[in-house]
Amino acid sequence: MSVGIPIRPLWPEPSTLPLDDAALTALYGRADRPRLRVNFVASLDGAVTLDGYSAGLSGEPDKRVFGLLRMLCDALVVAAGTLRHEGYRAVRLDPRRRAWRREHGLAEYPTLVVVSGSLDLDPTQAAFADAPVRPIVLTHAGAEPPPGLTDVADVLRCGTDRVDLTAGLAELHRRGLAQLLCEGGPQLFGALTAADLVDELCLTVAPLLAGPGPGRITAGDAAPPRQLPLRHVLAADDGVLMLRHARG
Ligand SMILES: NC(=O)c1ccc[n+]([C@@H]2O[C@H](COP(=O)([O-])OP(=O)(O)OC[C@H]3O[C@@H](n4cnc5c(N)ncnc54)[C@H](OP(=O)(O)O)[C@@H]3O)[C@@H](O)[C@H]2O)c1
Repeated sequence: MSVGIPIRPLWPEPSTLPLDDAALTALYGRADRPRLRVNFVASLDGAVTLDGYSAGLSGEPDKRVFGLLRMLCDALVVAAGTLRHEGYRAVRLDPRRRAWRREHGLAEYPTLVVVSGSLDLDPTQAAFADAPVRPIVLTHAGAEPPPGLTDVADVLRCGTDRVDLTAGLAELHRRGLAQLLCEGGPQLFGALTAADLVDELCLTVAPLLAGPGPGRITAGDAAPPRQLPLRHVLAADDGVLMLRHARG
């Protein structure tokens, strides 16, 4: 892959040398135990969207790390709200990233896991209909799937009348999906935080003030604060910061 805007390490070991994909892969890596990594982009003043979408906050360096984190995971977990709003397509990886996965004994593509309480999902959405790996929909016992959903996805039920995220993640681990990457959105992140399930947050900080209006990267009911120590800081030449925070 051609390297676009250079990304350099700032902390803990600063360097003026740009990081290539191999170095970025080593910095983010896979864990030797089950892990839930969450990835978000936000503005300097904490907005989760610009004009209603995340795209306005994300540039080439963020997209590069975004793709790399997808390459590293077993399953990509996304809330139904973000899937619907952002019009998620099938999870695809370029040939080089698929080759990396094969070399590391992984399935060619990560499995998409959609978290939904209502099952208000469209089975014809490309994320389902065009998926290279059959997606999983994580829901609860009381939810009724719309026609066609079970043709294109496995429905995993955890919880009686609301999704039990702790049980859901444990079941994903049992199915061999141990390295989980959550791409949001805010309500799911809030619920995962409240359930103390977040092991890592990769946060891209875009160098702009979005102003009042948009929400934060987290939403939902109040929950106790969680410590998440800083592990690295990268800076891209367009002024974007990339923070990785993870528990020990
Ligand atoms: N900046 C970024 O990096 C980033 C990343 C992701 C999203 N976003 C933005 O965030 C916005 C979407 O946010 P949102 O408020 O819709 O939040 P969300 O968390 O994306 O979606 C909420 C919906 O997802 C499902 N869900 C989430 N948590 C659940 C839980 N614990 N149990 C069961 N279902 C759960 C529910 O779907 P059902 O209604 O089907 O039950 C719920 O209505 C969009 O504007 C998107 O662009 C930004």
